[in-house]
Parts: sequence; structure tokens; C-alpha cells
Amino acid sequence: MKTIGIITSGGDAPGMNAAIRSIVRTAIYNDLNVLGIKQGYNGLLNGEIEEMNLSSVADIIHRGGTMLRSARCDEFKTEEGLEKALNVIRVFGIDGLIVLGGDGTFRGAQKLFENGVPTICIPCTIDNDMGYTDYTIGFMTAVETVVDAIGKIRDTSTSHGRANIVEVMGRNCGDIALYSGLAGGAESIIVPEVDFNMDEVCKRVIQGKNRGKLHHIIALAEGVGNAYEVAEEIEKKTGTETRVTILGHIQRGGSPTAFDRIMASKMGHKALKLLLQGEAGKALGIKCNEIIHIDLEEALNTEKELDMGMYEMAKILSI
Ligand code: ADP
Ligand code: F6P
Repeated sequence: MKTIGIITSGGDAPGMNAAIRSIVRTAIYNDLNVLGIKQGYNGLLNGEIEEMNLSSVADIIHRGGTMLRSARCDEFKTEEGLEKALNVIRVFGIDGLIVLGGDGTFRGAQKLFENGVPTICIPCTIDNDMGYTDYTIGFMTAVETVVDAIGKIRDTSTSHGRANIVEVMGRNCGDIALYSGLAGGAESIIVPEVDFNMDEVCKRVIQGKNRGKLHHIIALAEGVGNAYEVAEEIEKKTGTETRVTILGHIQRGGSPTAFDRIMASKMGHKALKLLLQGEAGKALGIKCNEIIHIDLEEALNTEKELDMGMYEMAKILSI
């Protein structure tokens, strides 16, 4: 192993930079050349690749986003796209690849591995939607952002005696809504994994009001559906004025939390060590506070489940 490549792909996540820094510095410590591949699989197809050194990764541990930039690349999903990528890997002499991203990114990495490229993946997505790992890098930073927003929205919600829906990201996964709803003391948490009962939510709004509560915060995961329709229904059924805030991409940016920086540093270091040990086709993750690595294929076949115990607890605590 002489030269390794690094790719960040899919939705960016806070902590990606800390992982890049860790990979680059561990690689250089081990006398390897490091190539940074720009804009996800796009850069791999087009040979947008540059050499990295110790100072390329100076002053980035605390920065959100990814210095290598990211993209979604449909061409890579085609046979021709894959061939192009394999050719670029040969031309640049890349002996091993470390890939940072979510499950789509991992599927692409699996294809490269099946075609002979030693590949190690690091889970980076704010969604925390990968079943094989307890944690994906960027998740807690996003949750902190949402909790901060909920606190601010709660102030104005109380002043006006309103219900406020805070729509959060997560694709089909309710983890951002559940964790930030719990930490932010939301009165209702609505996630795609649990059948959504409008009458129950309205009952909670009315019960809260009767107890003298002035606000009602609803953490709604984007995978559930249209927040404005939910708001209209609540207003109609409860008579409580209801506003919607869609937090959007604010959740994807910002300086990573210390936890995300530490996990990213650990996983980047471990990924490089695995490549040096001749491991390939592996996904890194965290189980019970330990960094694990398993076959990429197994990782991709493990379905994500919502922590129902936590969901039920949050419901009890928010009454
Ligand atoms: P994430 O990695 O955050 O889940 P995406 O699902 O958008 O983000 O995937 C990122 C990129 O990974 C896609 O744009 C595409 O280039 C690649 N990718 C996704 N699915 C596949 C697949 N089945 N085969 C090959 N490449 C894929
Ligand atoms: O996967 C991360 C994520 O932010 C999801 O939560 C969200 O649904 C999606 O990406 C948004 O994608 P884009 O940035 O392409 O609009």
C-alpha cells in the first residue's frame, strides 16, 4: 500500500473534516501518499484529484462541511460510470480508498470493492439512519442545532400561546426528531416509523392547554409528510393557532460537537490502520461505545430501527 484516496459523498455532515484530518495525518505518519478526491464520486469519474499533505488539513477540525466538497452523482450508478471510476483509480495508482458518507455512498463503495478496490467506509450523515451502527458522524451536531432552535421557538410559542411545528431532517428516519424532541422538551414527537394519529396529537394540545401550558412544540420528522397540512388540521381541530418552522439545511452545517470530532478522529485513524492491515470491504461503526468494523454488505443489509423504548419514554416525559 503506497497511495490512498479519500472521498466524501452524499449529504455532507459536520465531522467529515475531522475524519479527513485524521486519515491524512495517520497516512503520512505511516509514509503513505494521500490523494483527496473532490466532489464525491463526480471527482472520481473526472479525475478531480489532488495530493494532500500535513498542512492541507490544518485548521479544519472545527469546521463543518467537507473541505473535499461533496456531491450526488447519478453517472456513477451506471456501468459506464463505474468503469470510468475504476480507470481513474488505476491511472492515479490508488491502492486503497476511504469513503465517507451515508448508505447511498456505501452502496457505491461496495461496487468498487466488488471490482477489486480495497475500500473502507466511515458512516457520516446527520440522519443516523444506518442500522448496523449506533451512531453516524454529524448526528449529535445536528441534534444540538435543532435543540437550540426548539428553545428559541418555545419562547415565542409561549408568548403567543401557540402550537409550533418544528420540521427536522432525517429522510425516512425519525432519530433527529426523537433525540432533539426529547432533549428540547417537545410536547409531541412525530416520526415516520410510528403510525401517526392526528387525534392523539390534538388531544395532547388540548390537554396541555387545559393544564395551563402556553406552548406546544411538535418535533416532526420530514419523512412523515407535509408539515403545513398537519398544522392546518391541528388549528381546525383544537382552535390553537399553529405555526410551522422548517429548519432545513441549517441542520447540516456548523462546527461539529466535541463528540463528533472525537468519533471522526477515531474512525479516520482506524480506517487507515485497517487498510494497512490488508482489510477491505468494511464499514466502521459504533456499538456499545466501541468502534467496530463489519463487512460492508452486512452493514448495508442491516435495517435501521427506531429505539421504541426511548420513543415511549419521551411520550411519558412530555405529558
Ligand atoms: P448518502 O450517501 O448521504 O446516503 P446518496 O444516497 O445521495 O447520499 O448517495 C450518494 C451517492 O452515492 C450517489 O449520488 C451516487 O453517486 C452513489 N450511490 C448511491 N446509490 C448507489 C448505488 N446503488 N450504486 C452505486 N452508487 C450509488
Ligand atoms: O441525508 C442528509 C439529508 O440532509 C437528509 O436529512 C435530507 O432529506 C437530505 O439530505 C437533503 O438533501 P439535499 O441537501 O440534496 O437537499
